[in-house]
Amino acid sequence: MILEQNDEDGILRIAVLASGRGSNFEALCRGDTGNGRISLLITDNENADVMRKASELGVEAHYISPGRYRTKFGEAQEAEWTRLMMDRGIELVCLAGLMRIIKGSMLEEFKGRIINIHPSLLPSFPGLHAQKKALDYGVRISGCSVHYVDAGVDTGPIILQKAVHVKDDDTVEMLSGRILQQEHIAYSEAVRFICSGVRPIQDDV
Ligand code: GAR
Repeated sequence: MILEQNDEDGILRIAVLASGRGSNFEALCRGDTGNGRISLLITDNENADVMRKASELGVEAHYISPGRYRTKFGEAQEAEWTRLMMDRGIELVCLAGLMRIIKGSMLEEFKGRIINIHPSLLPSFPGLHAQKKALDYGVRISGCSVHYVDAGVDTGPIILQKAVHVKDDDTVEMLSGRILQQEHIAYSEAVRFICSGVRPIQDDV
């Protein structure tokens, strides 16, 4: 199944959900995403740098409370995020450093239309501190993965990956920086593939 274009303008509206720095959000806004347009940002952190970036880039941005939990959404709040995206005609959702698991109405409503970027070659090193885990393990190649989101943590079918060599004298910061450069390339490419139908959306995740 491929994403359908909005009849009026041929544009596929994309929402980015993020919690922090927002470098992937910015890369998606500035990158070549084909007929996909980043038209909405939602964050669970009202002080996040990504809010400032959205205002600089002229993207509609909202802070919506995620509820009382630390790593997941409250039921009512997840419904509120979902409703806003539906109201805005969002067809694809990109997680870019969202520090929460999606399990409820959002996954139902946007089934197979939510993608995530992660700083490792999945299925190795899911979860937090992926770059440190890769260094501690001693892998010689790491990288980043863009994948469809299912109910797990950094699981779901992989869309594309970029590899990065680990150097003998790498620190976590150095390796993270080189992986991040590849993330910025990979995310726009994955979105472009999905929007053009090169990669179908996965309605069976
Ligand atoms: C990125 O490195 C992204 O891969 C990671 O959070 C960072 C967000 O940076 N995501 C995960 O670890 C997901 N499990 P950014 O706010 O500058 O885009």
